[in-house]
Amino acid sequence: MKKWCYFLLLLTAIASCKKNVDSTCTDDIGLYHSYEFPVGVSLEPSELDANDRYRNIAAKQFNSITPENCFKAVSLHPQEGVFDWSQSEILIEFCKQNNKRIHGHTLIWHEQLPEWIKNYQGSRADWENLMKNHIQTIVKHFKGKVTGWDVVNEAFYEDGTLRNTIWHQKIGDSYIEKAFVYAQEADPDAKLFYNDFSLEWNPVKRNAVLSLLNNLRLRGVKVNGIGLQMHISTVYPDPSQVAEALNACAAADYLIHLSEIDVSVNPLNKSDFSLTEKLLKKQAEKMTAVIGLYKQLSQKYQYGITFWGVSDNHSWIRSYFNRNDYPLLYDDNYMIKPIYCSLKL
Ligand code: XIL
Repeated sequence: MKKWCYFLLLLTAIASCKKNVDSTCTDDIGLYHSYEFPVGVSLEPSELDANDRYRNIAAKQFNSITPENCFKAVSLHPQEGVFDWSQSEILIEFCKQNNKRIHGHTLIWHEQLPEWIKNYQGSRADWENLMKNHIQTIVKHFKGKVTGWDVVNEAFYEDGTLRNTIWHQKIGDSYIEKAFVYAQEADPDAKLFYNDFSLEWNPVKRNAVLSLLNNLRLRGVKVNGIGLQMHISTVYPDPSQVAEALNACAAADYLIHLSEIDVSVNPLNKSDFSLTEKLLKKQAEKMTAVIGLYKQLSQKYQYGITFWGVSDNHSWIRSYFNRNDYPLLYDDNYMIKPIYCSLKL
């Protein structure tokens, strides 16, 4: 094929990729420059290593990084007495070189646990020791590098009762308090968060979380903030629900992290789903509403916002829920989408 023919093909490809985006919107200037608070993304070290486009977007657009998987127990603590820092080091190095804040995710969770923890046999005291050693080895290792931690992740059911996790079974209700105390001892300067999903629309769950955290504070335990995961969609939640959630957390004096944002366009997992311009517009509108509300918060509550992945092809939603979806700021070809533009001031 002639050279000009390639060129024409390239132009057509670019034009078709950008067809849904306002022509004045570009990603020439990083997104985080538009905001006073940090704007983050979750990352995988393997992609940072292997994928230039992924790494360049991460470096240019965001100023806060959450490790998507490599700080989880299964990665960092694969065997009893064995910590493996190799993947986390790639991410730490990237953040150091590019001057990014690191938000640690996550110390105590019931998912992505290594087999040895799932099968561990011991008394309650042994389990407390296991948890203490797990938390404190990790927090001390990253001391001075990690700004904040999701100390406990997803400890509640939707009805506001405590989830029957392995930690709860082995240690009892007090495991949450203990986890925060152990983290605080290991790094008194770190900001400590409780992180969960659906807090942005379910007041029953949110009130249960708030009352537990308020209680910890009354007992002298440090809890700095709440992570609202914000796995939302074009359909739910209503912005008024998000406003209520933000106001409730701020009124109780917690830093607020919109910690795992994605905006599903196919929440009902329709098998005949196809992506339309209208849906992309709805997705952008939902984001406009949410960011508008977050901006209205007093600055002292704005820990920042984090998107759960760089581009649609890296979204956990496709693999985890086996769903055809397009929830992130960049498309499968690393081109910006209307939702990206909704965030550009
Ligand atoms: C997800 C990751 O994105 C996936 O890659 C992994 O397979 C499963 O976990 N809530 C959380 C995150 O707190 O840690 C989850 O991340 C998404 C839901």
